[in-house]
Amino acid sequence: MGNLKLVVVGASGDLARKKIFPALFSLYSQGLLPNEVEFVGFARSDYSDEAFRRRISETLTCRYVPGESCAEKMDGFLARTSYLRGEYGDSNAYKRLLDGRACDKIFYFSIPPAIFADTAEALGASGATEPGDGAWTRVVVEKPFGRDRKSFDELNERLNAVFPEEWIYRIDHYLGKEMVRNIQVLRFANQIFKPIWDSKHIDRIDISWSEDIGVEGRGGYFDNYGIIRDVVQNHLLQMLALVAMEPPPSLDAADIRNRKVELLKAITPLNPEDVEIGQYVSGVVNGVEHPGYGDDPTVPDDSLTPTFARMKLQVLNERWEDTVFTVKAGKALARRESQIRIVFRASRSNVFCSLDGGCPMPNELIIRVQPDEGITLKITTKVPGASMRFHVKELDLTYSDAFDAEVIPEAYENLILDVVNGDKSLFIRADELQAAWDIFTPVLSYFEENRVRPKAYPFGASL
Ligand code: BG6
Repeated sequence: MGNLKLVVVGASGDLARKKIFPALFSLYSQGLLPNEVEFVGFARSDYSDEAFRRRISETLTCRYVPGESCAEKMDGFLARTSYLRGEYGDSNAYKRLLDGRACDKIFYFSIPPAIFADTAEALGASGATEPGDGAWTRVVVEKPFGRDRKSFDELNERLNAVFPEEWIYRIDHYLGKEMVRNIQVLRFANQIFKPIWDSKHIDRIDISWSEDIGVEGRGGYFDNYGIIRDVVQNHLLQMLALVAMEPPPSLDAADIRNRKVELLKAITPLNPEDVEIGQYVSGVVNGVEHPGYGDDPTVPDDSLTPTFARMKLQVLNERWEDTVFTVKAGKALARRESQIRIVFRASRSNVFCSLDGGCPMPNELIIRVQPDEGITLKITTKVPGASMRFHVKELDLTYSDAFDAEVIPEAYENLILDVVNGDKSLFIRADELQAAWDIFTPVLSYFEENRVRPKAYPFGASL
């Protein structure tokens, strides 16, 4: 491994502070980054190196290096970290990153989507992205990538005009989550699932996502996007693609991404009648009153932006044409929970249907993405005793019990390491995004053009 300079553009923001720098420290503390690594934070705020180090040190954790060695690692990490102040669209500001040495470079765009393209152009014009002899440059771009198919194509064209496609890593942090990475292992390493992974055996697949907090001051960003663009078009759809894609011929990035694109293209674009939208209003949870979406000072008055969506998707291919896929996502609901529920078919001609208790319930396989990562299989089993009674029980694989000696990595740790290693299998290719936007663009335009009002639901609701 050679020298590496990792520049976080937008380093004063929440994502950088809460996720990116802690992930970088985790990798550094485990010795997974090159010895000669250097971190630079770039943003508009006025920090000295020292003040910036103090700010990020507050969120670094010692999960991988408990005890005294952690303080030493932290000092080492902070000593390699510096801060550069500048305007995002000013190419002269980035010139200060040039030091005449050839080294591998990663530029991590942790900035609002509205300034992606201007930032890329200024950065490209500065020459700071030129890797030099024998080195490489990689550019990590956070979601959302555009607001619809057209704006995605425009943004992508501008990015591609500055950076070659092989430099670009479009991140969707859900792909770095341990349980999402496990979907492929579950499906393709366990022979028992192969013959039953289709419409003949699976009645429905429900992908659900909820948070028990509202937008909390992020209304300025969120209101321009809404829940469908914020999490459904990317995080949830990616999970669906991994659950439903055909087996790839190999684990190469190109093979996996080809399979996901094929699957996304098989999804019928949504009709407005297939999608239900909602927006939270104030509500009381455990005796505490929480403000509604419209009460947030960062949200414009009379906003029609959905904070909840539930939809039915149809995957029109031979494997899935008779399976119902539902996707549900919402902020300010009763729980923080993200899971994939696979409901197998029940049979009315089952031999046990003749008993008093009725037919056995369908089997269910549940992948708990978070919290409490794990897998549950619901099976029908005999209740002990002389009579033939049965009951649904759960075979449960809870990660914290099964792997109690292992640390479950944060999504960003997995993904940043992949960027360093040049592995693109968990990053999103442009054609995947085009296919994803094609599913949602018509319904998003319909809602906006017709000013469709989302249904109100109280903060903390169970939907
Ligand atoms: C982000 C969304 O992509 O994912 C946020 O913009 C959301 O609105 C977040 O809160 C959820 O991520 P996680 O990892 O906390 O489930």
